[in-house]
Amino acid sequence: MHLKDSIQKAAQYIREGKVVAFPTETVYGLGANALDPFAVAKIFELKERPSFDPLIVHIAALSELDALIAEKDERIYALAEKFWPGPLTLVLPKSKLVPDLVTSGMATVGIRMPAHPVALELIAAAQCPLAAPSANKFGRISPTTAAHVRKQLPEVDYILDGGKTTVGIESTIIRLTYKGFQLLRSGVITQEEIASILPFDSSGVMEKSLAPGMLKSHYSPRKRMLIADEKLLETTDLSHAGLISFTGKHTAPFKRVIEVSERNDLRDYAVNLFAAMHSLEDDPEIDLIIAEAVAETGIGKAIMDRLKKAEYDWRRMGL
Ligand code: TXA
Ligand code: MG
Repeated sequence: MHLKDSIQKAAQYIREGKVVAFPTETVYGLGANALDPFAVAKIFELKERPSFDPLIVHIAALSELDALIAEKDERIYALAEKFWPGPLTLVLPKSKLVPDLVTSGMATVGIRMPAHPVALELIAAAQCPLAAPSANKFGRISPTTAAHVRKQLPEVDYILDGGKTTVGIESTIIRLTYKGFQLLRSGVITQEEIASILPFDSSGVMEKSLAPGMLKSHYSPRKRMLIADEKLLETTDLSHAGLISFTGKHTAPFKRVIEVSERNDLRDYAVNLFAAMHSLEDDPEIDLIIAEAVAETGIGKAIMDRLKKAEYDWRRMGL
């Protein structure tokens, strides 16, 4: 089917209260009409997502924002001007229009305008904002292709295929405080970039209550995954291990090596990380996934956040 027709079909499904997987620039989303609690409930069911973990609402035009939020705030428009459409989610006081199920009962709602033409056309054609988490089972590896979605969620009503995503990791999430902004989840839009528009508020974030879905374990492959360190490389049998390599160093002992960036650019690491994890998870010859660490600055902070959450359960079980 032609892409235009697929978008129309997906929009029709959304209007009928069904759930559709669709591409965004970050990862694929599992979308439903954000204003229809019955449709939204299906997302939680399909994803096996706990109800305490709120969803992000996706819009296609700035004019859709006002109906979703309780207070207008000039700073929102300054941020939107600079970063939307794009991978930045703003957590804002919600209006009554937004169902409690979307926000897990919180008084705030996360909103973003994705920078993917297919996502924007879908939202416009559906004529409603889309509530959408990443289109994976809860706690597992996020999808960056339609095939990744099909692997984890074969039962979803429709998967709109828009090719491989171009950013690769989820949006940066911030909330506004009277001092400026606080970072709830790191992404390729960095704290430093946002600080060029609004001051960074360094007073502590009570992570649990502000971003309830931010658990220590997430993005978890079904196979053992660990971040590379010297001890691990020296003491572990790597003959059935796969390496997610950034610098191209220390590749010799591995069964398989996936190079995420030939030009050593962290943006490539973000783009290719989840696909590399999926590929090694699916490879029957691999029983251990090792990922190269990077410095925790700029985009490196977002990459290390994903790697630490992916290895968390495995690391706790011991080497
Ligand atoms: O790039 C993305 O953000 C992707 C694409 C599909 O847009 N979506 C995504 O959604 O990553 P999800 O559900 O996997 O992660 C959303 C997280 C939640 O786990 C929660 O921590 C945070 O966003 N969140 C959503 N609404 C919130 C709110 N009102 N207050 C605080 N955190 C919120
Ligand atoms: Mg997710």
